[in-house]
Amino acid sequence: MIRIIILNGPNLNLLGTREPGIYGNQTLQFIQKRLEEEAATYRIDLDFYQSNHEGKLIDKIHEAYKNGFNGIIINPGAFTHYSYAIRDAISATNIPTIEVHLSNIHAREEFRAKSVIAPVCIGQISGLGVDAYSAALFALHRRFQS
Ligand code: DQA
Repeated sequence: MIRIIILNGPNLNLLGTREPGIYGNQTLQFIQKRLEEEAATYRIDLDFYQSNHEGKLIDKIHEAYKNGFNGIIINPGAFTHYSYAIRDAISATNIPTIEVHLSNIHAREEFRAKSVIAPVCIGQISGLGVDAYSAALFALHRRFQS
């Protein structure tokens, strides 16, 4: 069975109440439930993890590698824009990874337009709200479909 982990970075635990005009009204729990339903239809085994701490996200990426996970979907939050350490963890483990963002990072403040993580990912999906995660899951499903 294909195993994928969805990682969410800092402040994404506040979804639902955090700047709803930008990030929407849905909570992370709601997003998780929806993705678990979609994963079940693809027969994908899904793990879900959120942390506000850079090192904990890195530990999870290492763990995913040790445990033989097939793919990662990551919303690194603000770490997107400056975490060389998360970038290095993804390139070190070489797990196919898709970077996702709820908001369109290319249509906001200038500092958000640059991702230091996207170059080591197989793709980036930005600005579709919760559907960014669904699109990433679909893309990984297609990639691993035999
Ligand atoms: C975000 C965009 C980032 O710039 C921001 O720091 C976030 C959320 C998004 O999902 O749109 O925390 O990754």
